[in-house]
Amino acid sequence: MSAALRPRPTPGLGAAVIGAEEEALVLDVLRRKEPFRYYGATFKPTPPMVVQLEKEFREYIGTDYALGVSSGTGALEVAMAAMGIGPGDEVILTAWSWVACFTAIVRVGAKPVLAEIDESLNLDPAELIRLATPRTRAVLIVHYQGVAADMDRIVLEAHRRGIYVLEDCAQSLGTRYRGRQIGTWGDIATFSFQYNKVATSGEGGMVTTRDQRLYERAVRLSDLGNYRPQHAAIVPAHEPAFVGGQYRLSELAGAMALAQLRKVEGMWQHCHDLHQRVVARLQGLQGLTLRQIPDPAGAFGFELYLFLKNPAHVAPFREKLDARNVNCGARTGTYPQYNRDYVKTGLAHHPALSPFRDIKPWPAPGYRAEDFPRTEDLTSRFLALPIGALYTTEDADYMADCIIAVHGEVCG
Ligand SMILES: Cc1ncc(COP(=O)(O)O)c(C=O)c1O
Repeated sequence: MSAALRPRPTPGLGAAVIGAEEEALVLDVLRRKEPFRYYGATFKPTPPMVVQLEKEFREYIGTDYALGVSSGTGALEVAMAAMGIGPGDEVILTAWSWVACFTAIVRVGAKPVLAEIDESLNLDPAELIRLATPRTRAVLIVHYQGVAADMDRIVLEAHRRGIYVLEDCAQSLGTRYRGRQIGTWGDIATFSFQYNKVATSGEGGMVTTRDQRLYERAVRLSDLGNYRPQHAAIVPAHEPAFVGGQYRLSELAGAMALAQLRKVEGMWQHCHDLHQRVVARLQGLQGLTLRQIPDPAGAFGFELYLFLKNPAHVAPFREKLDARNVNCGARTGTYPQYNRDYVKTGLAHHPALSPFRDIKPWPAPGYRAEDFPRTEDLTSRFLALPIGALYTTEDADYMADCIIAVHGEVCG
């Protein structure tokens, strides 16, 4: 081994920096005995945490309207309904995406259409052109693990065809693209405050938009069809009441998410700088390429992706890094939608609700591994190395030393 063994650094983002700020705000909610966002014992004044979170959130990313909701999954379902997506509609998304990206589409009765990723691990914009049909109502863009998708091309091609752009920013709050935060490029965007995310409240989410109609519909969907004075003061009511769900964010989660939101910019700068530092050391290694980043200046950098030319090298590479106390996964909790059980069965909770019910035999083309050669290839060859909020410059330098040493041993 070339470098002396260092202790394993603690991974994690928001969860790793929970401290006095979160404690103070959550305690404030408890002491006031007001854990519900819309009212406390006296109905006046409105409890402050979710309202303040929404205000700071829209200021931080630079958008007009923000609505706290109970999870990132809930945020996707709310966004689908806000856009009015339902039976007969198609929504394009990458095959390499989180469970909820697919299920939120099926839950509103629409049909998910799976697309290939490219070397950025995000949607290949050419796929939007290939897969768009007259029934396509939206494209769901996952900004995967701190790297923005190529939004210039995607928004242009989608809007040219009258297709909504939904940005799923669940994993990547704080990430920019061409100088502007993700979540400000499309028509509507969703975020998550689940435990593994950049900012966490255990569970929680956010829907953002610049469109007044989408905002009102998102509020109604999230709160049993209601549109309370708090929201009407932001956007006057225009939409007819319709049946909603219950996706409200509690004041406890709102307080924690608020404290965490205030730490995002610091984490972005920290991880971004360390990522750049490691990347600068890894140029020109034979048989090893880095994830393509459409706008490197905006990348969060909390996960470094290495593609190995030879898939057989992935397991030994990972094991050797692990033996040196370098955190490294061959997977990141995501695997292709076509390998998930719910795609293999094609079922919804009621047979009539499945958009695939009339497609026989099932799984049909477009929902099988053999239909996604690029996704299969790319995801069989990468390693993901976290760069956490608590990592130091020495940890980053050691990570680069170890990658170079292991590359020599495995790929040399
Ligand atoms: C891309 C993406 N979308 C949506 C979600 C769902 O968020 P939540 O876990 O808050 O429901 C996640 C969570 O991992 C995600 O990674």
